[in-house]
Amino acid sequence: ERFVASVREAGTVTTTPRRRGEPLVRVGDEALAFVNAPDADPAVSEVREAARAALAIDARPDLAPTAATLRTTAEVDTVVECAVALSAGWAGVPARERATVLADVANRLEAARWELLAVMAHEAGKTAGEADPEISEAIDFARWYAGSAVALETTGGDELRFAPVGVTLVTPPWNFPVAIAAGGVLAALAAGSAVVMKPSPLAQRCGEAVAGHVRDALAAAGYDADLVQVVQVPENEVGQHLVAHDGVDQVVLTGSSDTARLFARWRVGRAGAGAGAGAGGPRVFAETSGKNSLIVTPSADLDLAVADVVRSAFGHAGQKCSAASLVILVGSVGSSRRFHDQLVDAVSSLRVGVPSDLGTGMGPVIEEPSGKLLRAMTQLEPGESWALEPQRVAPPTGGEAWDGRLWTPGVRAGVQPWSWFHLTECFGPVLGVMRADTLEQAIEWQNAVPFGLTGGLHSLDPDEIDLWLERVEVGNAYVNRHITGAVVQRQPFGGWKGSVMGPGAKAGGPSYVAQLGRWVPADDGR
Ligand code: SER
Repeated sequence: ERFVASVREAGTVTTTPRRRGEPLVRVGDEALAFVNAPDADPAVSEVREAARAALAIDARPDLAPTAATLRTTAEVDTVVECAVALSAGWAGVPARERATVLADVANRLEAARWELLAVMAHEAGKTAGEADPEISEAIDFARWYAGSAVALETTGGDELRFAPVGVTLVTPPWNFPVAIAAGGVLAALAAGSAVVMKPSPLAQRCGEAVAGHVRDALAAAGYDADLVQVVQVPENEVGQHLVAHDGVDQVVLTGSSDTARLFARWRVGRAGAGAGAGAGGPRVFAETSGKNSLIVTPSADLDLAVADVVRSAFGHAGQKCSAASLVILVGSVGSSRRFHDQLVDAVSSLRVGVPSDLGTGMGPVIEEPSGKLLRAMTQLEPGESWALEPQRVAPPTGGEAWDGRLWTPGVRAGVQPWSWFHLTECFGPVLGVMRADTLEQAIEWQNAVPFGLTGGLHSLDPDEIDLWLERVEVGNAYVNRHITGAVVQRQPFGGWKGSVMGPGAKAGGPSYVAQLGRWVPADDGR
């Protein structure tokens, strides 16, 4: 269930035995070895120029919204019926051919790096430094899930075979609008499903850009592009009708725990529950909320720890389910000024700006802060003080669209155990600092939250590392590393406790695609 477990899993449960360096997928004569796509290198001047040129174009005509906005339940029915009609054909396509389409998607996404960078900046507020590795992750998902599709075909032995379930609804979030959109859609396609994708309305063009490349790859290979339909639905009974639809066999959701619970409730109550391939439960596969922390002990390399805390807390303005919202300082790290002062210096040196400026260190929040985030940015709890109080920043000329969404990063000192900020996900650029007497106490506080997505430890003491790995209750546990930015294959990503719904196979890991299908007797339907 944890990252450490996944590493073992990756080594032992890979479905086709593989020697190091041996290609994972063979599509026709082409060997498709899995290698993580490299990020663009900002040290190369051509890369900077290409990024600058892309970011300078705001209204890109090729990215005009194309998603069908469904206003009535009858319109939802039409879309789902189309997906159902196409799903049997796609389910019958040999896995190797599905993999070929995914491999083509990977190449198309690679070729579209600058286009994607621009739409992520303009629509979702992502800086180039955040968007670029996300594009690499999307490419990785395409290649990795292509491999999974092929591997699953030979899994199950003489008794069982892997079978698709029909139609998958994929609802990606606005904060990773390219990688998570691509991951959900491509995993479902790899598993043999037709897909309906409903991107977040806050990042619809990003979702459409991804879907556009997938649709192009399908069409180029002679398949119906409508195997991936992109829709928008209002959050009313029309949206509920889509989520709970008889023709939708499963849902892949990345969003809040509340949304996952709502989807599951709707689907348990749906008219067709109990019939069809997706029968037997709501089949909601969700990666949800987190309240993640990094522990720093006196044995840590404090310079490294400061850098990793800043990156984990303020990358994409803290708007990641994986972000560090708390740092828990153990013993002398908390009682001396050194770590505190270095952290405050580092955080206050982050350059807040608009995402189209390559020099921006921290970009905007997606919407003007409200609710929990506003409270986290403006109100202290008993015992707390501002080491850095968030301030609203006026956007530069030309960046007026971001007005109200540019804020300096905040640091709350003196966060008390079991206080509101300790236990609540706030999703923005605010870091809380807690001081624990011992590592055991720090771990207890780290585990006290209802979620269990990511967590970190900075320590150079092997006994401390062992103790922490044994006790920490998170899906992705990182030692001496920032706690965001999981890398496909190397760090399969997923949660524990309240951060997950469904069996919890990890994205970018060996079991993710398998989770989106089912096992049937080998002779069934042959
Ligand atoms: N996969 C992302 C990360 O690791 C979160 O969705 O940061």
